[in-house]
Amino acid sequence: MTDAKPYTIEAESLPEVVSWPAIFGNDRSVELEIGSGKGLFLANAATAHPERNFFGIEKAKKYARRAADRVAKRSLTNVRVLPGDAKQFMAKHCPARSLDAIHVYFPDPWWKARHKKRRMFAEPLMLDIERTLIPGADLWVATDVNEYYGVIRELIAAHPRFVDQPIPEVKEAEHELDYLTSFERKYRIEGRPIYRAHYRFD
Ligand SMILES: C[S@@+](CC[C@H](N)C(=O)[O-])C[C@H]1O[C@@H](n2cnc3c(N)ncnc32)[C@H](O)[C@@H]1O
Repeated sequence: MTDAKPYTIEAESLPEVVSWPAIFGNDRSVELEIGSGKGLFLANAATAHPERNFFGIEKAKKYARRAADRVAKRSLTNVRVLPGDAKQFMAKHCPARSLDAIHVYFPDPWWKARHKKRRMFAEPLMLDIERTLIPGADLWVATDVNEYYGVIRELIAAHPRFVDQPIPEVKEAEHELDYLTSFERKYRIEGRPIYRAHYRFD
């Protein structure tokens, strides 16, 4: 039995604006993942980069718990998970110019026309992304939805401080955990195309 509690930040206990050093107990760089799902990216990235901190926000409590369990099992000390709404966190609690990277992988596509306004990627979030990244930071995005990808690219293109970067080569998976995220695993196994984007914030 693992204790996921130390990895979980309760939304109710958030101060008006968070202090990353207070959350992580050090002043290392912080990368934020929006919609972390079951936490595969958080666990793999934090294992590969023990010198960086990773903060995942996941609205579905069940998945946030799974993500916290996953990092607890690996005894990672550089990850925290917030079960809550990333849009609210970004707008209200995230300090300006404090993040070294933001990762958004497979945001819900909300297919129906009348639901599209629920999509994560929209101008208010872009403004918060722009406000919270440090110059030189990275923005990483992946989706399996070509149309949403186009919308995201257009939205980001309207913010000229984001400069398109090459996408690193995606390696064959040798192990079932060798994927960016759980959704990436599912879609690659199904043979679906995946659209990726990487920007540097100048
Ligand atoms: C399609 S899943 C992808 C999960 C994970 N990124 C992956 O690739 O496996 C989208 C996730 O975003 C979460 N999500 C949706 N809206 C959110 C919000 N406003 N704040 C935080 N998480 C959100 C959902 O609960 C869901 O787990």
